[in-house]
Amino acid sequence: MSKMVKVGIVGLGRIGKNHARNLARRVRGAELLAGASPVAEERSWAQQELGVSRLYANMEALLADPDVDAVWLATPTSLHAEQIVSALEAGKHVFCEKPLALTPDECERVLQAAEKHSRQTVMIGFMRRYDPTYVEAKRLLDSGELGRLFRLHCASLDAIDTNGFFVQFAPTSGGLFLDCSIHDIDVALWMTNGAKPVSVSATGIRAMYPGLAACNDVDTATATVLFENDILATFHASRTSHHGDETSLQLVGTDSSLSLGVGGTPTSEVNVQKGNANHCGMVVDFFARFEQAFVLEAQAFIDAIQRGDTLRERLLEAREATRIGVAMREALEQQKIITLDH
Ligand code: NAI
Repeated sequence: MSKMVKVGIVGLGRIGKNHARNLARRVRGAELLAGASPVAEERSWAQQELGVSRLYANMEALLADPDVDAVWLATPTSLHAEQIVSALEAGKHVFCEKPLALTPDECERVLQAAEKHSRQTVMIGFMRRYDPTYVEAKRLLDSGELGRLFRLHCASLDAIDTNGFFVQFAPTSGGLFLDCSIHDIDVALWMTNGAKPVSVSATGIRAMYPGLAACNDVDTATATVLFENDILATFHASRTSHHGDETSLQLVGTDSSLSLGVGGTPTSEVNVQKGNANHCGMVVDFFARFEQAFVLEAQAFIDAIQRGDTLRERLLEAREATRIGVAMREALEQQKIITLDH
């Protein structure tokens, strides 16, 4: 039997808690041994809710724990690159939430560290690759059902936030494309088997959150990427969805097309008719939409460590995703078409 992987999670905020619950209860071969957060309430939560015994106020203390095999980073995006490098240098396997980093230079630093620590697994949290509907779309595409793929449309629409979280979160997120569309960029790279981007254009507005002006971010945006072999991809991201979370994909090939998630995901098959309206509940957030994918993603990380797979190809794709996301942001800021070397 494979050795249990002892995991230390760093960051116990919105998504860190979600991962911590999964790692503690739903992932074979994993033991959630330790946690680190600068916030005392978050540490108490991990102790009381999940029985995590080793809790540290900072990542350095967790990295010094010799019993931790793997570090799980669920920290602000602006810290990812530096923290991945530190964790690799401390001899740990690393899972890190998306995106890998916010600049190509930071990605390069991580790649170099990964090359130096060539036996340690590194995985970036693109959980859509584990969502059964996306997996089915990929299976159909690979089976030849669609013919030659020439068009993708991806949308990541977040429900309207009335608590001010998006505005508060924006300064460290890298902006709408690097925060939200990065998932769709990864999906595009996955669906096209790593097609190279040729050019990128983008447009965006602040429709509902004027506070985003302070960090020059937008809440509604589209980007167009022309990939090699005449594959045209469009990306729509927003924080302004009236019907809750919408994570959708449309693929068009020469023989047929497919779509998933368009219009959001119903919570039930049951519709209620009242007056002249038809009501059906919609999934509000990505936690509910991707509940299963988050568990399968964590399982994939633990399985990869146990079979000695370092997942380097995927790390290269994560770097490419950041390169495309940065080009989208530049295209938006400079209002010009960015051409990419390949
Ligand atoms: P958050 O702000 O709710 O949580 C951040 C956590 O990091 C908090 O526990 C905070 O105490 C901790 N932290 C801050 N500075 C730290 C430091 N120097 N050392 C250690 N811990 C530190 O943010 P949220 O929403 O949980 O996002 C975290 C990351 O997860 C981001 O990179 C984001 O892009 C990603 N994310 C991914 C999603 C997905 O769909 N896969 C969805 C939501 C977030």
